[in-house]
Amino acid sequence: MTQTHFGYQTVDESEKARRVRGVFDSVAKKYDIMNDLMSGGMHRAWKAYTVAVANLKEGDRALDIAGGTGDLARAFAKRVGATGCVVHTDINESMLRVGRDRLLDEGMVLPTTICDAEKLPFATGRFDLVSVAFGLRNMTHKEVALAEMNRVLRPGGRLLVLEFSKIAAPLKKAYDWYSFNVLPRVGQFVAGDAESYRYLAESIRMHPDQETLKQMMKAAGFGHVDVHNMTGGVVALHVGIKC
Ligand SMILES: C[S@@+](CC[C@H](N)C(=O)[O-])C[C@H]1O[C@@H](n2cnc3c(N)ncnc32)[C@H](O)[C@@H]1O
Repeated sequence: MTQTHFGYQTVDESEKARRVRGVFDSVAKKYDIMNDLMSGGMHRAWKAYTVAVANLKEGDRALDIAGGTGDLARAFAKRVGATGCVVHTDINESMLRVGRDRLLDEGMVLPTTICDAEKLPFATGRFDLVSVAFGLRNMTHKEVALAEMNRVLRPGGRLLVLEFSKIAAPLKKAYDWYSFNVLPRVGQFVAGDAESYRYLAESIRMHPDQETLKQMMKAAGFGHVDVHNMTGGVVALHVGIKC
């Protein structure tokens, strides 16, 4: 069995998928409130910027991978209108259920599918835009997932990867202190789960930095990749064009 990392631990590949599922099963119900608390609401600005860069038009077809509680899918759906289509997907049923219920409460019915980003159940060239926000980090075979995202895009289509990234050096000390001291405590207090938020902090450090991810996207078939750093590199938006 090939080994990989789960945060700072080395585990079998099948064990990683099981543990990631455990994390999101555990936090699903408190996921949205935790996002606001942990980021001081900044995740809303990062996502709003991503939606602006997506620049979707009426009639466009978009796929949101690892869509969780549906922030991007909801914003995209408003832009593509009744003639377009946004498919909301995630590998985790608990997260997808919270997202679907939230969208239904707002009067929005989107096609919602449980699927693994590494084996997408969609035809080649089906979408104008594919997005994955804070999901790639958790995937076992990132190269396979990126190649699948490339496959389902039409030529000229774009992949948007919003993810934690490598922070600017002057901010690192404070960010590390916050990540390893504050985050798990807030996770314990609000979601009753310190471990999942320790995993969050560790998985961010194990994730490829801006330049490495850019090269991975190029290797997966994206002819042009732009990187937009936000909040000093706390997160980065990678935009890849299939060309
Ligand atoms: C941190 S949440 C992000 C949710 C949402 N995109 C957001 O930005 O709020 C990460 C999501 O990635 C999903 N995920 C992890 N591995 C996956 C995979 N292989 N395929 C699809 N989704 C995956 C998890 O189930 C989880 O819902």
